[in-house]
Amino acid sequence: MISLIVHGGAWDIPDDAVEAHRKGCSVALNIGWKILRSGGSAVDAVEQVVRSLEDDETFDAGRGSHLNAIGQVELDASIMNGRSLRCGAVAGLHCIRNPISLARKVMDESEHVLLVGDGAERFASEHDIELCDPQDLVTMRERERWSAVQGKENFTTKDAFRHQKAASDTVGAVALDKDGNMCVGTSTGGTFNKYPGRVGDSPLIGCGTYADNEVGGVSTTGWGEAMIKVVMAKTVIDLMEANGGVAQVAAERSIEILKRKAEGFGGVIVMNARGQFGIAYNTPRMARAYINAEMNEPFIAA
Ligand code: GLY
Repeated sequence: MISLIVHGGAWDIPDDAVEAHRKGCSVALNIGWKILRSGGSAVDAVEQVVRSLEDDETFDAGRGSHLNAIGQVELDASIMNGRSLRCGAVAGLHCIRNPISLARKVMDESEHVLLVGDGAERFASEHDIELCDPQDLVTMRERERWSAVQGKENFTTKDAFRHQKAASDTVGAVALDKDGNMCVGTSTGGTFNKYPGRVGDSPLIGCGTYADNEVGGVSTTGWGEAMIKVVMAKTVIDLMEANGGVAQVAAERSIEILKRKAEGFGGVIVMNARGQFGIAYNTPRMARAYINAEMNEPFIAA
């Protein structure tokens, strides 16, 4: 059964931003669904879905991402093919509009899994991925948000998540194609006001992203430091493998583990090998959308 699920972050999405989150997820879902319905691959669907979310300034991915402590955008992404377990990831990018496409190039055209910073951007220029001006990734909304906390020494990401005030718009997608192949991709600008060079869960295979045709796929969003501590995406996969493939139970249990063991906040989208969904989060809201071959209409919510 072809199937697709996407997310656009889990946090206290303000009322006046809910519609933009729903719309962004809906547009991206449609793009991926057309690819899957016309017989395209899960890898193509995930790349195009995540590119759409990166291009939408609503989200913390691509242009519009949060700024780090010195006012720069630094982007991370990963992609994984559940058929071969091949994967590609990039981190600490300043000049790439669509990190998911660079992550795919790393997966398809390199012998490595994770490239960072200058090396990743060098690899991009050698593989037909255009570099942009770093300022092209910065929006007025994020510049103002960043300016408002400068000089406030007591600002910490942990407190922001604890008080449900951390914006957490990491994006991701899980797709299953007609050949039974699963792919997962995740892309982010990371946490707001992060230390320069900080890397979260999104580009780490097993933390932000995991795909295994035999079990399913997972993409995460939320506070990366906590997600890393519990190896979030692979934890969901292991729970699902142990429970016979019940995606929703694995999703809920993983969020309970995240909170209890790492005081973490966030959400997961999950798909089992049969194309059935699981979604769980412990934030006030999560932007998500899904559709599979058994549904007449997509489900969209934020
Ligand atoms: N979950 C995204 C990050 O913490 O970077």
